[in-house]
Formats: sequence, C-alpha cells, structure tokens
Amino acid sequence: MKFFVDTAEIDAIAELNDLGMVDGVTTNPSLIKKSGRDIIEVTKEICDLVDGPVSAEVTAVDADTMIAEGRKLVEIAENIAVKVPLTWDGLKACKALSDDGHMVNVTLCFSANQALLAAKAGATFISPFIGRLDDINLDGMDLIADIRTIYDNYGFDTQILAASIRSANHVLESARIGADVMTAPPAVIKSMINHPLTDKGLATFLEDIKAADIKIL
Ligand code: G3P
Repeated sequence: MKFFVDTAEIDAIAELNDLGMVDGVTTNPSLIKKSGRDIIEVTKEICDLVDGPVSAEVTAVDADTMIAEGRKLVEIAENIAVKVPLTWDGLKACKALSDDGHMVNVTLCFSANQALLAAKAGATFISPFIGRLDDINLDGMDLIADIRTIYDNYGFDTQILAASIRSANHVLESARIGADVMTAPPAVIKSMINHPLTDKGLATFLEDIKAADIKIL
C-alpha cells in the first residue's frame, strides 16, 4: 500500500519523508487555507521534497477553467496530480488532462458509480472519502470494497486512493480490502505505531537492563 500524506504542512511532510513513509502528498483547498500559504509556492516546496505524486486541487467548477488551472498546476513540477471534483465538468477536465498525459486525482467520491465514471474518464486516482461517509452513519469501507470489486472485474487501472482517513483502523481496513493508496493526516500515520503491549514490554526490558546493568557501548 502506498502512503500519501494529507497535509500542506512542509515540516510534517519532511519528518515522515525522512522515515520513508511518504509515497506522495494530497492537498485540498481546506488544507491550503490551514497552511496560510500561497498554493503555487507551497505546492512547489512539497514537490521539491517528495518524489511521488503531489495532488493539487483546482478552484474552478467549469471544465474549461479547470483544464486551464490544471495546465498551470502541472507546470509547477512533473509529479503534480491535478485534483478535480467528481462532477460532469470535473470528469471533462479529467479526460482532457489525462489525454494530455497528466496524472489526475478525482476527489469527493461517495459512490461506486461515481468511481466507475471517473475510471472511464481516465482518472489516475479515485478518492473515496471514508470518514465523511462514516459521519453520516454509512460505511466508508463498503465503498472501498465495492470500488475494488468493480475495478478488478473490468481491469481498470485507476488507483483507489482511500481518503478522509481519520484513524489507524481506517488504514488497516483499507489495506485489508486492497486500496492501492491511502492518504491520511500525519497524526493518523504516527498513531499507527501505538500498542500498549509494546510500551509495557519495553518498560520491562528497561527495568531488566537497569537491574542487570546490561551495557553494549
Ligand atoms: O483526503 C481528503 C481529506 O482531506 C478529507 O478529510 O477529514 O476533511 O474528511 P476530512
């Protein structure tokens, strides 16, 4: 499973990147707003840091302007994936930009039918939003599973990018189902290491190291 980091915070990306945990980055207008940075500047900095795909989202809602924005975004760096919303205009932009050879991430996916349309429009990535479905008492994991089945049935090579991940369990379930990629905030990725038995076991080892005065260096 590829790990993308869902943030526009440079320091947080750099910290995880140094550990080999970053296969790509996703941003959206809310994350750009949170960073307080200019979209072009901060996206360039992220692309300089990370080798894998960096999703940058268009701001327009009509296809022609989305395509123009996408063509400007891909000038930032070779690893830009243009992020477009799952609307008919977004799919038109997806088709045009992918026909030009650019990576496209179709976002705000909440149904398997939407994912099917995005694959047919040439999406590189489809972003089903797990957490936001859970928020309205639907099961985000059912959506990931349905898309996996449908894409496998027909051999679509659009990658399933599990998004709106809110917990380590969301990562685990997405991996079990076979999502190609997951994107999560840095705090969620860091929380994946937590296990009380690891902490307890280490505490015991440290006590024994002290008691027996075990030294290596
Ligand atoms: O990747 C999409 C993500 O940024 C949305 O997450 O938590 O705002 O639903 P959230």
